[in-house]
Amino acid sequence: MNYEPLRELFIAELQDLYSAEQQITHCLPRIIKAAHDTRLKQALQQHHDESALHVARLSKILKRMNETPNEKTCDGVHVLLHEVEERVRDGGDAEVMDAGLIAAMQRVEHYEIAAYSSARTYAEHLDESDSARFLSETLDEEMRADVRLSQLSRRVRVTRRAA
Ligand SMILES: [Fe+2]
Ligand SMILES: [Fe+2]
Repeated sequence: MNYEPLRELFIAELQDLYSAEQQITHCLPRIIKAAHDTRLKQALQQHHDESALHVARLSKILKRMNETPNEKTCDGVHVLLHEVEERVRDGGDAEVMDAGLIAAMQRVEHYEIAAYSSARTYAEHLDESDSARFLSETLDEEMRADVRLSQLSRRVRVTRRAA
């Protein structure tokens, strides 16, 4: 693979992720407020703090590459967060709303997992081993956040009203 075009792709992916993380960090406080279950709130708060760290790591990697974040919006995460906000607006039964929030947030995590996984591979191809290590750390945190959300979704108990 040619170095320069791959480097350009790598930078574009990092800038896209930077926008994604900014949007997530901005949106999460509203989602945390809307969630009902205490453990869900805690999991989302923990991931909010991690997401701030993800922004900082991306800044560091871009700086190492003598690049800066650009103004481009990550459309993928924009749409996925819009769906999370829809779950908030829909309201309704507390446990069902939490289940909807979890499903919508997991879509965001899966987007990030795919993007960070590719970015790490590009960093390895480009011999940017420090960047690859930073991206691995973030990727691990994204995967752990996804597992926590899966565990929380399995805790939901269904009660049937007597006819
Ligand atoms: Fe993240
Ligand atoms: Fe995330």
